[in-house]
Amino acid sequence: MSTRLAELHERARAVLDPVHYDYYAGGVGDEVVLAENEAAFRRLALLPRVLRGRETRDLAVDLPGGRLDLPVLVAPTAFHRLAHPEGELATARAAAAAGTVLVSGVASTVAIGEVVAAARSVDPGASVWFQLYPQPDDAVTACLVERAERAGCTALVVTADSPVFGRHRRDAEHGFHDLPAGLAAENMRDLPGGVRDIVMSPAVSWEHLDRLRELTSLPLWLKGVLHPRDAVLAVRRGAAGIVVSNHGGRQSDLAPAAVEALPAVVDAVAGRVPVVLDGGVRGGGDVAVALALGAAAVGVGRPVLWGLAADGEAGVAGVLAVLRDEFDHVLALCGGRDPADLTRDLVVARGTGVCARCG
Ligand code: FNR
Repeated sequence: MSTRLAELHERARAVLDPVHYDYYAGGVGDEVVLAENEAAFRRLALLPRVLRGRETRDLAVDLPGGRLDLPVLVAPTAFHRLAHPEGELATARAAAAAGTVLVSGVASTVAIGEVVAAARSVDPGASVWFQLYPQPDDAVTACLVERAERAGCTALVVTADSPVFGRHRRDAEHGFHDLPAGLAAENMRDLPGGVRDIVMSPAVSWEHLDRLRELTSLPLWLKGVLHPRDAVLAVRRGAAGIVVSNHGGRQSDLAPAAVEALPAVVDAVAGRVPVVLDGGVRGGGDVAVALALGAAAVGVGRPVLWGLAADGEAGVAGVLAVLRDEFDHVLALCGGRDPADLTRDLVVARGTGVCARCG
């Protein structure tokens, strides 16, 4: 992990209630995938190219739903007010100030309209995306989509990797199941049928995605894809982008590390839509490796929560600044001018010197 981000992590651990720290930090099952997401990056190296750089580099990327000043977006994570009283408002302002996208979770502790307003108070052109789980009741999904559209969100991120809740041992040990008094999932108020909680249903299917597609003209990203065939199905069904993710090791503990699943998905999608990776990104070097393997951008989850807990808006701004600075530095070391210069031939498996994909 980047030393500067590791310091923020330690500060967050010191200030957070240990129960809430474990809720953020923990993973499913034996936390194999949680550890592998980071370890897999350590197994990859990046070959520098020489004598082909330029004085300054352009880090921006265009994605359906917004332009990012750096190829790093804030992945959707729940309950930011457990980390800091300003919660998602602070995260939204910091993301907007950094010129990047906050993917605001359906399980946010601030309503989506206020989250978007906070981002736009910093930058009127800021893009906020809304993450939701397809709900078994289409009327509930439609209501959530309508709230996101009314708020001014510029893309939807549909999380597909959660047919059931992941079983988190740390939460079970602490008996942590509910938000403390005074905090609520604010987007879940006044929904059709009196629904109050997000429903995870194994019955959710591609047909739910089709109906969601018909409901909105917003670009629709599918998050939680690991199998290349699912990526192809998503593209056929109109997804504007794919997020390769194992939910930060919080769903299946049998899943591969996210970065190991990335190249096959990139190959299957074959440039038809952009692919974003999240899981285990802990420094600008990880961003560069993911981009070299074909990601258009990466998402960061826990590091943002550590910044938020340690120092509110300034802490999140600090995390994004570190990632920007480190990524720019690595890009320069690779002789790159912009993210497109990071190509797969640069990635080698550590200890072999052999291209990680070409064998
Ligand atoms: C998440 N993640 C997540 N994803 C999602 O689609 N909806 C959600 O509500 C949440 N909630 C959530 C809570 C917490 C505490 C964490 C840590 C993660 C998953 C998130 O979007 C992302 O996939 C991972 O966090 C990426 O891994 P890293 O960056 O945390 O390693």
